[in-house]
Order: sequence, then C-alpha cells, then structure tokens
Amino acid sequence: MKCRRCKELAQIALPSHHTAFCRDCFERYFIRQIETGIRRQKMFTHEDRILCALSGGKDSLALMWVLSHLGYDVTGLHVDLGIEGSSPMARGQVEAFCQDHDLKLVVVETAPKGLGIPEVYKALKRPICPVCGKIKRYYFNKTALEGGYTALTTGHNLDDEVARLFANTLRWDQSYLSDQGPALPAEAGFAAKVKPLYRVTEFETAAFCFLKKIPHVKAPCPYSKGASFTSHKALWATLEEKSPGSKIAFYDGFLERGRPAFAALEPGHGTKLSPCRTCGYPTSVEWCGVCRLKRQVAGLPPEAAEAEE
Ligand code: AMP
Ligand code: FES
Ligand code: ZN
Repeated sequence: MKCRRCKELAQIALPSHHTAFCRDCFERYFIRQIETGIRRQKMFTHEDRILCALSGGKDSLALMWVLSHLGYDVTGLHVDLGIEGSSPMARGQVEAFCQDHDLKLVVVETAPKGLGIPEVYKALKRPICPVCGKIKRYYFNKTALEGGYTALTTGHNLDDEVARLFANTLRWDQSYLSDQGPALPAEAGFAAKVKPLYRVTEFETAAFCFLKKIPHVKAPCPYSKGASFTSHKALWATLEEKSPGSKIAFYDGFLERGRPAFAALEPGHGTKLSPCRTCGYPTSVEWCGVCRLKRQVAGLPPEAAEAEE
C-alpha cells in the first residue's frame, strides 16, 4: 500500500479515514488532527499557560510532545499516588520524558497529604478508581488555579470519549449529555479543562509513541480490575471494523447536534456550588469530597461533627 500523501511505502493503515500513511506523513496527520481539535473547540491559544496532566501513559506523553512541538507554553503535572511499584514507575517515566525533552514539570504527591491510594483503599475497602479519579481531578484543578495556568489538558482520546458518551447515552443521562465534550470553559473555582486528543484513537497515539520512540507505562494500575468502559470499547472496536469512521461520526454528530439539543432541555443546568469551608474548593455541601475523605482516611470524625462541638 502507498502513502496517500507522498506515495512512498505506507507503514500505518487508517481504515476509518480510508487511508494509509508513511511514517513522516502519519506524524504530520496526527499533529494536524490535534491542531484541528484545538481550533474547532477554541481550546487555547499561544497566549495561554497550559498545564498538561501526565500519567506516564502513551496518550498524555504524546499530547505533551505535540503541544511543545507546536510552540505552546506547556508545563507537565504528575500526581504521584503513592502506590508501591506502579507510582515510582509512572513518575520515573514522566520525569525522564520531561528531562529528555527539556520540559517543565510539577509533581504533586498525595501520600504526604494523607491521600496515598493504599491508605485510602484500606480505609474505604471498596473499588477505588472513582475515588482516585476524584483525588486526581482535585489536584489537577488546584495546581492549575494556584499556578495561574489558563487551561488544563488531559490525554483522553477518541476511544475514551466515545465510550463515555455511549455509557451516558445508554442511560439517557440528560445532565451529562448536555455538557459532555472536549472543552469545558473555566468557571468560578474551576480551571478550563480540555482534551486535545479527542480526534485521535488509542491506536494512533500508540503508533505515534512508537514512531517517536517515546517510552511510556504500559501496565494497568494494580487497583483497577480492568480499565473503565472496557466492554463498551470492545463493542465499538467491532462496530468500527465493520463500518470504519463510526467513532468520529458518532462523536462529531453529538457535538454538533446532540449536545445542543440536550443543553436546551437543561436551562440553568448545574447545582449551586460554594467554597469548601476547609480548602475553598467548589462544593455543593459544606466540605468538599476530598477534605471529607482525608478525615475518613485519618480515622477522624467528619468535619461537621467537630464544627458542632
Ligand atoms: P485515565 O483516567 O487513567 O485514563 O487518565 C486520563 C488522563 O488523566 C491521562 O491521559 C492524563 O492526562 C491524566 N492522568 C491520569 N493519571 C494521572 C496522574 N497520576 N498524574 C497526572 N495526570 C494523570
Ligand atoms: Fe487510581 Fe489506580 S490510577 S486507583
Ligand atoms: Zn475541601
């Protein structure tokens, strides 16, 4: 097969785009897809200070590479969750990447704040992924706001977005369907959150890392019993194989027609939030979820009990 652009021997087939590329033209295509996403969703400009959440996996490292290549002012953020074996490996990968490419990096450790994942797991004794997600989002946002960053990027790709949209659609979750998307604007207490990889698939980010020789963590987190949405991703892989282009058509169609329709059903959507009494993070109750969790892990009574004394 020949590369669509330069007619040299193709190395990567992309059935969903009815095309194949050689190494250089694939790289160019990959970067173009990300630029298109940033432009279409008005994610940020070269005036912004961008914080890029780096897990050590292929998606976020590929994203950081592309953003710095495109000349954006980008700083990496790694949240070290204190998991024996896996966290040092992830952190090491991120630190080495940033050092090799001369990129700025901020590391936040959760264990000294009483929120190491093993301790949280011992205290809660239930599936930890949603709680871990909450802790990570809290520190992503806090670091972005305190550091004066104007956009927070994560490495969520098209497969992640389609699987999440599909799950929300199966439940007809009106609230999520009215504002799910690759760009959430900043609002009181929250930094703008954007996902510049929403137009590229997991396969494409893996191919990019392979071609650019970007080492990354491959092992799943020891606490996750299979990644989230695994069965939905498998369904979509079958659908995409039978009908190439389904994923991007489903997602783009949602952004253009689905989301506005759901948003119209939810005027003034959203719960009223006020600052957490301990840390100032926006919350719908008096103390935010992370402050309540910290006390629970430390074996202390809830804040409310103490405030009443
Ligand atoms: P996941 O939910 O693990 O698929 O991760 C989705 C995105 O969240 C990644 O692409 C990263 O941008 C970000 N992320 C996940 N874990 C971490 C972490 N420990 N530190 C910084 N960013 C992370
Ligand atoms: Fe959060 Fe595994 S990455 S529990
Ligand atoms: Zn709080």
